[in-house]
Amino acid sequence: MFTITVLNQKGGCGKTTLSQCMAAAAYAAGHRVAVLDLDEQGASHGIFRDEVEPGRFKKEDFFVASFNGRDADLKSYRDLCQIFSDQGYDFLILDLPPKLVSQEHIVSTITDITLVPMFISNQDLKSTLKTVDVLNAAGVTSLVIPSRVPTSKSDKKYPKYQDVLKSLTAHDGAAVSSVEITDRAEYVDVGDGLFPPLDAPKTAAGKETVKLFALIHEMLKRLNQLKAA
Ligand SMILES: Nc1ncnc2c1ncn2[C@@H]1O[C@H](COP(=O)(O)OP(=O)(O)OP(=O)(O)O)[C@@H](O)[C@H]1O
Ligand SMILES: [Mg+2]
Repeated sequence: MFTITVLNQKGGCGKTTLSQCMAAAAYAAGHRVAVLDLDEQGASHGIFRDEVEPGRFKKEDFFVASFNGRDADLKSYRDLCQIFSDQGYDFLILDLPPKLVSQEHIVSTITDITLVPMFISNQDLKSTLKTVDVLNAAGVTSLVIPSRVPTSKSDKKYPKYQDVLKSLTAHDGAAVSSVEITDRAEYVDVGDGLFPPLDAPKTAAGKETVKLFALIHEMLKRLNQLKAA
């Protein structure tokens, strides 16, 4: 089983959207997926409370739930991963709330890759670079995913956008995904149990979601080979 953690200490940068899109893409590619929301607001009464209705997914292959990660220790996380691994899941996706970045040492022991979505703006640059630094110091492999990227070419050429992207890619230890999550209305529905990439796989959002998942899956397989060597 591969464990993917999605985090950024910045709130509202697209963590939940990215988590659910990756889960949908993994499921669409034929994998068994569990996605857990670790926000304490969604799970203050213990493990697996507030299970989100998996909609038209077959429950045994696609599992969505909350888990209160705020006070969880390393053993709880390890046990949690073990449960899903034992049940034959191929992917466990952990959607972390902003402040859980302080649990980087726990994350480092349970995750195979950490995705850091970032809205490409000066406002979000600082907190994202801090997040990347903290993850690097803990030895976590991370990939920054530009999120809510403007779709119009003129916006993308906007000098500030390019400057922020340059500062990000030039930062020591920041790996930036070549596949981006653009700012599209189709993503806004994600979170209501709707998965645009599956509902409309031919849309631009569906295509980029599938492409991003393929890139991440490839990275995970390579990381595994490196570990085994
Ligand atoms: N690619 C996108 N295009 C358009 N809207 C988006 C996109 N990504 C996220 N949004 C919207 O931005 C808002 C915040 O996104 P999301 O909830 O995924 O962020 P988050 O990082 O999980 O937030 P939090 O820190 O509160 O957990 C939501 O209303 C969501 O619908
Ligand atoms: Mg969220």
